[in-house]
Amino acid sequence: MTGPGVNRRALIGSALALAACERRADAQTSPANLPTLRSVAPFPVGTCLQALQLDDPAFAALVAAQVSQLTPEWEMKMEYIVQDDGSLRFEGPDKIAAFARSAGIRLFGHTLVWYAQSPPAFERLDVSRIAFDAAYRNYILAVAGRYRGQVSGWDVVNEAVAEDGEGWRDSLWSRKLGALDHMVLAFQHAREADPDAVLFLNDYNLENIPKKRATFLKLAEALLKAGAPLGGLGTQTHVAADLAPGELSRTISDLASLGLPVHLSEMDVSITRSEGLIKDRTRLAAGQARVYAEAAEAFSSLPPSQRFAFTHWGLRDGDSWLKRENAADTPLLFDDQGRPKAAAAAWIGGLR
Ligand code: XIL
Repeated sequence: MTGPGVNRRALIGSALALAACERRADAQTSPANLPTLRSVAPFPVGTCLQALQLDDPAFAALVAAQVSQLTPEWEMKMEYIVQDDGSLRFEGPDKIAAFARSAGIRLFGHTLVWYAQSPPAFERLDVSRIAFDAAYRNYILAVAGRYRGQVSGWDVVNEAVAEDGEGWRDSLWSRKLGALDHMVLAFQHAREADPDAVLFLNDYNLENIPKKRATFLKLAEALLKAGAPLGGLGTQTHVAADLAPGELSRTISDLASLGLPVHLSEMDVSITRSEGLIKDRTRLAAGQARVYAEAAEAFSSLPPSQRFAFTHWGLRDGDSWLKRENAADTPLLFDDQGRPKAAAAAWIGGLR
């Protein structure tokens, strides 16, 4: 993938980062005395959340203290919004939007078009392309229009690149409206609904599959060429604790090469998904801290105008979606009680 020189530099870089992070963590004595994420990050820092979690006062307080941006974890997806009869429901996202407003936290929309979600109400629309296009446009206008002026941006198209990086994914949307056309239309409709939101193309596994990263960048260029109002690139960053040093930094700088703002949109660092030779949990926790430090450092090194936001996919381990896959995973910055872990100290230590 890369020459040994690059890896060596990355290793040295990350060793320096770790040392710096240890110095900062030492200065703050223990993770328990860390400053809040939002107070030290020179860019917006976010988390995802679900409306129901806001009923837990400890969770709501942690969120309000730590972050400056909120992404609904699933209640702005079609799966939640589109009912069986085709009507739309907004209770969940409205509740999150109201909380964000009252806490003075900005909101981020996720997501308008996703290959993984094709509600039956859309599948049943066995009609001409013109009528399908109208339903698609109406949906995007209704959802992005409802939160117009409230969101900083939208993931307009999520996970469009094929798993192995060979071209783009097939979906209900691509079949009905065209492989590139359905994406261009989605961006245009989102722009029509909200003139100020930054409109993102968002994807995952861009760190460990270089081919997927290259296809993602080519897709972004194709969208721009076709006139889509693409305003930023999102890299989810669901990674594992044994991710090779340098891969994250390389991904972030490759994405930045187009000159658009970058959103590190869903970061978590799985312990249990680590597949390498390291099996020891203590070493995996150290690996997790190293990966968080590298992410913070690489993101910090972008020009300020390209640092859209850095979003953690949850704050407390106990709330992580990865727990459903493996209950032993501890992928986030805070433990189940909301106390900062070594990973949080490392992330803060990596900020520049
Ligand atoms: C996940 C949520 O965390 C889960 O709660 C939900 O059940 C499924 O989706 N990529 C994405 C996110 O863009 O929307 C996914 O979130 C995680 C992977």
